[in-house]
Amino acid sequence: MYHGDAHTPDDDACRGADRYPDADLYSGDIASVLVTEEQIRCRIAELAQQVAADFPAEQDKGELLLVGVLKGAVMFMTDFARALPIPVQLEFMAVSSYGSATSSSGVVRILKGLDRDITDRNVLVVEDIIDSGLTLSWLLRNLATRHPATLEVCTLLRKPDAIQIDVPVRYIGFDIPREFVVGYGLDYGERYRDLPYIGTLAPEVYAD
Ligand code: PRP
Repeated sequence: MYHGDAHTPDDDACRGADRYPDADLYSGDIASVLVTEEQIRCRIAELAQQVAADFPAEQDKGELLLVGVLKGAVMFMTDFARALPIPVQLEFMAVSSYGSATSSSGVVRILKGLDRDITDRNVLVVEDIIDSGLTLSWLLRNLATRHPATLEVCTLLRKPDAIQIDVPVRYIGFDIPREFVVGYGLDYGERYRDLPYIGTLAPEVYAD
């Protein structure tokens, strides 16, 4: 049987290795880094403090329920959950919102629903990006019919210039310009999600 070469946390190779060799991962496809890894980490810590202050651990509604929207929110959701100084529970939904590769159609399909009842729970929807707002607007209406005690939204990114419908968003990481962005969960054709930062995609990549 094959056994991998295990490291221990004390191994020198992993000590202080807080950066990934990403610079050439998708050589030439990333036009610019819009939000760095460090900026993401720092902002997540701030958002986590804010949320923890608003939802103290000793609530009678049970532990705060984070509802992450697959797949884009995965990186944010997991880093955010670990930054929160309160216990939380994790749920995931998968919806499909994009009619084309780069713009929202407003048509939302549930690909994966919630696994549990959210009645009377404090629910925080965790999104990677609000573009037109159509996906989130639909999702909030859908979740509200299940009677959570509270229903709030935390998004890492928002494009104020692209909003088509007003959605109440309590926690926002960064407002960004109306450019096509990838990385840290966001994709183009399922690629680039693994980048640790948010970058703009070189126009020739999606012009093909
Ligand atoms: C993206 C993103 C949001 C939505 C935002 O998901 O994660 O859910 O689009 O767009 P909107 O505000 O214009 O509705 P996408 O459908 O690309 O799926 P993914 O998360 O699996 O990449």
